[in-house]
Amino acid sequence: MKIQFRKNEKLAYMAVAGLVILLLLAGVLLNWQRGAFTNNMLLLLSLLLGVLFFLEIYFLCIEKEEKYILEKKRVRSVWRMSKQIVQTLVKTIDAKDSYTNGHSARVAQYSLMLAKRMDFSSEELGRLEYTALLHDVGKIGVSDAILNKKGKLTDEEYAVIKEHANMGAQILSNITELPDVAVGARYHHERYDGNGYPAGLKGEEIPLFARIIAVADSYDAMTSKRSYRAALPQHVVREEISKGIGTQFDPRIAKLMLMIMDEDIAYELRETE
Ligand SMILES: [Fe+2]
Repeated sequence: MKIQFRKNEKLAYMAVAGLVILLLLAGVLLNWQRGAFTNNMLLLLSLLLGVLFFLEIYFLCIEKEEKYILEKKRVRSVWRMSKQIVQTLVKTIDAKDSYTNGHSARVAQYSLMLAKRMDFSSEELGRLEYTALLHDVGKIGVSDAILNKKGKLTDEEYAVIKEHANMGAQILSNITELPDVAVGARYHHERYDGNGYPAGLKGEEIPLFARIIAVADSYDAMTSKRSYRAALPQHVVREEISKGIGTQFDPRIAKLMLMIMDEDIAYELRETE
């Protein structure tokens, strides 16, 4: 969109400069026919100035365009670098939890698939990707013994696990340039019916990014391998997502997940490694 505007801007400048030259040229021709030497000299001088004006604008546009391209490349490079740093951090978080190998990357992948069907702009997709990648960062603050416990968790242990949502938000609150990441971490375990945690938000009170991540997160939990089971069969996962419509999940987002699943005939969207 921006490039289009810049092209139009350039064309407008060129058109104005071209028009000035044409008018001056017409004046020269008319006066030449009348034989007015002084006027012709003045008009020729004006014509020369018009051409210089045209060239000045032309080179200015080229220079502006080059600067714009360089700036765009620089922004993309910084964006790529920050994404690589985030991905490295995310791998560290996932490595801490033996159950969640590659979990955050898959949650980001599924979140983006959902958001693309909700017509998100590329800027919104970028923010959502970071938010989904970092949603479980608070697990850094949960002890390995609780996180990797094989048997059933006690109430106290479950309470500690639940704290990862607030803890994540606290850690990410430093990223003021992208407040979505802290919001996503805090609310990704909220439920549409209000029975989630940590705040018990209900329906659309739950921020949109968190509602999307909640669906992607649950989908990945069911389609990932565990030490005691393989990924659940696709029809079982489908049933669970259907059951969660309007209770655990935002109905619109859960239905989009079902559509994605129906298109995934070979059941490729799951943990395979
Ligand atoms: Fe979580």
